[in-house]
Amino acid sequence: MFYKKSIPSLIKEAQASGEGTLKRTLSSYNLVALGVGAIIGAGLFSLTGIAAAENAGPAVIISFIVAAIGCGFAGLCYAEFASMIPVAGSAYTYSYATMGEFIAWIIGWDLVLEYALGAATVAASWSQYFSQFLAELGIQLPASLLHGPWEGGFINLPAIVIVCLLSLLLIRGTQESSFLNNILVIIKIAVVLIFIALGWSFINPANHSPFIPPNAGEEAVKAGELGFLQFFGSPDFGHFGISGILRGAGVVFFAFIGFDAVSTAAQEAKNPQKGMPIGIIGSLIICTLLYVLFSYVMTGLEHYTAFKGDAKPVATAFAQTGYTFLNLALIIAILTGYTSVILVMLLGQSRVFYTMSKDGLLPKFFSDLSKNQTPWKTNLLFMVFVSVFAGFVPVSDLGHMVSIGTLFAFSLVCIGIIILRKKEPNLERPFRTPFVPTVPILGILVCVTMMASLPIESWERLGIWMLLGVIIYFCYSKHHSKAKLQAERASDIE
Ligand code: ALA
Repeated sequence: MFYKKSIPSLIKEAQASGEGTLKRTLSSYNLVALGVGAIIGAGLFSLTGIAAAENAGPAVIISFIVAAIGCGFAGLCYAEFASMIPVAGSAYTYSYATMGEFIAWIIGWDLVLEYALGAATVAASWSQYFSQFLAELGIQLPASLLHGPWEGGFINLPAIVIVCLLSLLLIRGTQESSFLNNILVIIKIAVVLIFIALGWSFINPANHSPFIPPNAGEEAVKAGELGFLQFFGSPDFGHFGISGILRGAGVVFFAFIGFDAVSTAAQEAKNPQKGMPIGIIGSLIICTLLYVLFSYVMTGLEHYTAFKGDAKPVATAFAQTGYTFLNLALIIAILTGYTSVILVMLLGQSRVFYTMSKDGLLPKFFSDLSKNQTPWKTNLLFMVFVSVFAGFVPVSDLGHMVSIGTLFAFSLVCIGIIILRKKEPNLERPFRTPFVPTVPILGILVCVTMMASLPIESWERLGIWMLLGVIIYFCYSKHHSKAKLQAERASDIE
């Protein structure tokens, strides 16, 4: 359970090339595009409205900044690991090197929540915008084909179709997928910039006031009428005021998920030592700037209360500009944005399982490569898995699972940096996280606080998923671990 992979052996693994290895095709630019591709999606286009209407009001801008700071701490830790150990396994491999096999397995298993369920969540929302797109063209899809059985429908068919198409593209080749991703990212950024530029002059300052809507519970605490702990458990907590900004940060955190997916492409980067930090930190900075400006314009165009229960808040805000003829273009751009998120999430998922299988913790099936050097069997399996979730499970349940799973992984990566700095202080680090241990400790604190703000059911589901993982580890992975077999062989020789 506590076998660790040595860093030199991991570096050797990362440097291997030829048959049975992934192909190095991605430049630093591709990596930044990959990051932005995974980041901007449902979080920005759907959750900004929800967080503004229900949690933070115009101060959703501050929620974005809080979430960005938390992700920034974790991002710096990811950058150190990814440039030092550029293998496809991301947080899973970093944990294998620092905390041992069992924790590594837990993280690898946990990443399914981030990547596979992340892809499913965004695919399910994709389908809502797709039906709007068809509606603009005068085509109506029956509601029963747009929602799963728990939402009054039968199946979310467009969600399944997009997952299948993108999985097939990934099987075709990483370079082809990266090419499509670059185009999608350009369209997506262009639309975000157009929204900001066109919307700016229509901002009504009255909509930004009060900037932080008051919270009745917080006022009562200030007046000494309510105890702080009582407030913490009260229904007022998280609805506007300071607590609303924090809960809003937990909600919009989803919008930042994905920057870490860059690290899963480390084995396909031409120069990972340089490309990984640029890809991870660069995409995070670009997205934070865009998010702050976007949410400023959005809450300035329309009063935050108008976004309550609105499934297409961006269109609602944009209607204030009067450029309604751009509606169709906006929907198309949002669809492309979502598409690139799904693509990169599916890519990340297959790479993590590829690495776990290479280590023997999963059957060899998962690391079988096609002629194009892509792990096609894993892609196919996740095509089915993600389709089932996207087609049948409600989006909100999925979204919380994704956030809690991701925050858990981020926290462990931050812990890993502290451990490795202590145990292997002299290893060559192409990129060093600044101010260790302060930065990773702050990263852990922010992530755990955001986890605490999520509903209790997400914790229960996380527990059930992890329990399943632990059972698989003890029934299969522990006995097939290559690290264990190597260690046994070495002791037999002795
Ligand atoms: N960050 C991604 C999104 O917002 C997951 O869609």
